[in-house]
Amino acid sequence: MRPSQESRRAAIAPGRGAIAALAFGVAAGIAAATAVVGCGPPRTLTPAQRGEAIYRTNCASCHNRDPNLPGALGPAIAGAPRALIEARVMHAAYPAGYHPRRQTHLMRALPWLAPHIDDLTAYLAAAAPR
Ligand code: HEC
Repeated sequence: MRPSQESRRAAIAPGRGAIAALAFGVAAGIAAATAVVGCGPPRTLTPAQRGEAIYRTNCASCHNRDPNLPGALGPAIAGAPRALIEARVMHAAYPAGYHPRRQTHLMRALPWLAPHIDDLTAYLAAAAPR
């Protein structure tokens, strides 16, 4: 090995060590986090539980934390049928023939929530009084 190659090796070596240490640190961090969260079997959320989280973060600010009550801007929507939720969330529209509770046009579509229409429907159904 020529001396110039050797010195290049030496220059690279600490970098590798640092990456290895970082990788170990990340792995240890994940292991620690798993140990804290992972007391007991892994928690799987029901569609209604997922829908509640989606509702609280995306809808409650305008509607109400309790979907049975009117909110700051939007009406009560507990028990809303899937077709209505889909039309509103995907297109800010209404299903054909539906009579809106409000005549305003304030709500915007939130189409990135497409994978959660079923979850929202499950939550809003569960939240409605039987
Ligand atoms: C920016 C405020 C805002 C946000 C955020 C919002 N909405 Fe709305 N929503 C409204 C308003 C206001 C109306 C009444 C019509 C209008 O003005 O667009 C409405 C109407 C609705 C209706 C129809 C009610 C009816 O029977 O006429 C449904 C269903 C609905 N929203 C569902 C949702 C869901 C589900 C989310 C969250 C994924 C959401 N909205 C997020 C403001 C909002």
